[in-house]
Amino acid sequence: VNHLLGIKYLKEKDIQLIFETADHFKEVINRPIKKVPSLRDITIANLFFENSTRTKLSFELAEKRLSADVINFSSGQSSVKKGETLIDTVNNILSMKVDMVVMRHPNPGAGVFLSKHINASIINAGDGAHEHPTQALLDSYSIREKLGDVAGKKVVIVGDILHSRVALSNIFALQLQGAQVMVCGPKTLLPKFINELGVKVETNLLKALNWCDVANMLRVQNERMDISYFPSTREYTQQFGVNKELLDSLDKEITIMHPGPINRGVEITSDVADSKQSIILDQVQNGVAIRMAAIYLLASKIKQ
Ligand code: CP
Repeated sequence: VNHLLGIKYLKEKDIQLIFETADHFKEVINRPIKKVPSLRDITIANLFFENSTRTKLSFELAEKRLSADVINFSSGQSSVKKGETLIDTVNNILSMKVDMVVMRHPNPGAGVFLSKHINASIINAGDGAHEHPTQALLDSYSIREKLGDVAGKKVVIVGDILHSRVALSNIFALQLQGAQVMVCGPKTLLPKFINELGVKVETNLLKALNWCDVANMLRVQNERMDISYFPSTREYTQQFGVNKELLDSLDKEITIMHPGPINRGVEITSDVADSKQSIILDQVQNGVAIRMAAIYLLASKIKQ
C-alpha cells in the first residue's frame, strides 16, 4: 500500500512530479467548472483527531474537485470519546468501502503506526510535532511560483522549531530541492537534534533576515508545552517578531510566509502579514492544487 506519511520518505523526483501534477490542477481550479471526474470511483475519509481550519477544508475541497466521495470525521464528536481505539475506529470506517485515509493526529508517528494495522493508503495531515508533508509541499510550491525555483534559495524558518511539524517537513523538502535552510528562534525552542539536520542556526532575527530570500514565520505552539519555554510573549515578539520597520531596514525585499494560523502582533504584525511581500494566502490557495495532486497520484496507484 502506498502512503504519504512524511517528506523524509520522498525523493526529489517525487516532489517534482507532485508539482507538475499540481500545475495541471491549478489550471483546472481556475476554470469556471472547477471539477474533474478523475476519482469518481474513490472514497476518502478525512480523520481529524486535532483541530484544523486550512488543512481540513483544503483536503475536502481537493477531494471534491477530483469528484471523490468524501466523509469527514472529527474525534471530538466521535466514539473515540467512549474509549474506541485508533485502529478500531479506522478499520470500522474502512469497512464501509473507504479507499484512502487523510489523518491529522496529535501523536508523532500516528500515521506510520496506523499504516502497519490497516489496508488503505494514508496521507499524513500533521502528526504532532513530527511531519506535515502537504504543508511543506505547498510551501515549496509557493516559493517556486513566487521566485521561479527553490534550488539555490535561502530560506529561514523563524520561531518555535521545537514543536513544529511544519519546520521539520520544510527542512526535508527544501534540502531535497537544493535550497539552503536556516532556523532562527530562542535556544529553548530549538530541538536538541537541530545540528544533525544540516541547517544553519541563528538566534539573531535581523542577521537571519539579512541572509535570507524567504522567511517562513511560525506560531509559538503553546498547546504543545507543559512548561513555559520562554519568559514572555512580549519578549518573544521583541526578539523574534517580524514587523514592517524591521523589513524596511533590510537592503532587499524578502518574501514572507506563514503556515497559519497567525497570531497577529506576536510573530508577525498585520502590516507585514497583509503586505505585498507576504504570500500567506497564496500558500493557502496552492494547498488545494497540491493536495489534489497528492491524492490523485496515490489513487492512481490504488487503481493499478
Ligand atoms: N497550516 C495548517 O496546518 O493550518 P490548520 O491547522 O488550520 O490546518
